[in-house]
Amino acid sequence: MQLMSPFSLKPFNTFGLDAQAKMGFVLNDEAELDTLRGSAWWSDSQPRLLIGEGSNILFTSDFDGLVIVNRLKGISVQETADAWLLHVAAGENWPALIQWSLQHQMPGMENLALIPGTVGAAPVQNIGAYGVEFCQFCDYVDTWHFADGHRQRYSAAACQFGYRDSLFKHELHDQVIITAVGLRIPKQWQPVVEYGPLKALGEQVTAEQIFTAVCELRQSKLPDPTLLGNAGSFFKNPVIDAGKGQTLLAIFPNAPHYPQADGRIKLAAGWLIDQCQLKGKTIGGAAVHRQQALVLINDNQATSDDVIKLAHYVRQQVGEKFNVWLQPEVRFIGATGEVNAEEAIA
Ligand code: FAD
Ligand code: EPU
Repeated sequence: MQLMSPFSLKPFNTFGLDAQAKMGFVLNDEAELDTLRGSAWWSDSQPRLLIGEGSNILFTSDFDGLVIVNRLKGISVQETADAWLLHVAAGENWPALIQWSLQHQMPGMENLALIPGTVGAAPVQNIGAYGVEFCQFCDYVDTWHFADGHRQRYSAAACQFGYRDSLFKHELHDQVIITAVGLRIPKQWQPVVEYGPLKALGEQVTAEQIFTAVCELRQSKLPDPTLLGNAGSFFKNPVIDAGKGQTLLAIFPNAPHYPQADGRIKLAAGWLIDQCQLKGKTIGGAAVHRQQALVLINDNQATSDDVIKLAHYVRQQVGEKFNVWLQPEVRFIGATGEVNAEEAIA
């Protein structure tokens, strides 16, 4: 364990913002967690932050505490009559895992190709794309608890997965490090091609063809963070009550919308922002991406203030036009930990 103080956060956030932490280290071995608890560096009251690849984080200031960058590695596989069971260390790279699973003839997760970040962050917001969510493959999540160093396995049901939501954003927020994830990939492969542009592939499609189509779609719309800083969709797609939805759809019948199992209606935040003519809108060095209005980018040495002001402006414009108030998907991290992102841009 090599602690660094100060610890630069610039390589560990895909917005590419220049921030630093009081101290930090890269976690390569789970045993280092127990060493850390017993060391002089450890204090229960000190702010702490777990980072995977920083692809869903906005640093609003320097961080006045300890940062742990998760690089725990390793994949093991077991097989039952009807499924592949993967135990994957949390610091593995998610897109690499998807490619690995296809190369090893374990298709199923191809719709989740190219989602940046680590395997350990996938349960936190229950990542999803193109009609599929992480929770569909999740068997269990293994954790290490900050309070007393105990380890605990949570079944998928216990994780309370929802749209961009889980137990790890609520009861277990800041309480645990996810150390590994158990995945169950059924051997009976079923293509998922309901998402608009994938429909054209038809039912005779292969997993590799879906993988290629998803990669092409993503590359055509979403900016590559190594070239243009961003954290993917900046806002969640808003889910509104059926009544409010009907009123809105009567005025804007072309609004893309997705009925939910509970009767509510999910709207496309990108469409709402686009309708406010905000593509290309710039504040300081931050801008609304021209290919996908839901993505805010670090266009030119943006500060976190630029991004926050732009997010406020976008939220305000959409709220005034549609009476729908967007909530950030990106997690805002202040000096002592996560801050309420919705309040920060209100
Ligand atoms: P980080 O950003 O490092 O962390 C995110 C949060 O999880 C933080 O609160 C952090 O403290 C916590 N965390 C991370 N690791 C752990 C751990 N091991 N234990 C406990 N807490 C932890 N998301 C989607 O759902 N679908 C998409 O299609 C999608 N597309 C994207 C496209 C682009 C270009 C980008 C930049 C992002 C996209 N995202 C998408 C968001 C992002 O990829 C996911 O949220 C991803 O899971 C974040 O992984 P990370 O390792 O970078 O997490
Ligand atoms: N749209 C516009 N203009 C835009 C952007 C979108 O009109 O600038 C319209 C599209 O034409 C489409 C609808 O809005 O009718 C939805 O757009 P898209 O299919 O691109 O998906 P999204 O809702 O913008 C969501 C996820 C993405 C995920 C894609 C694919 C959220 C917040 N975002 O985006 O996830 O990759 O669907 O499934 O749910 C992320 O979470 O970071 C992320 C990138």
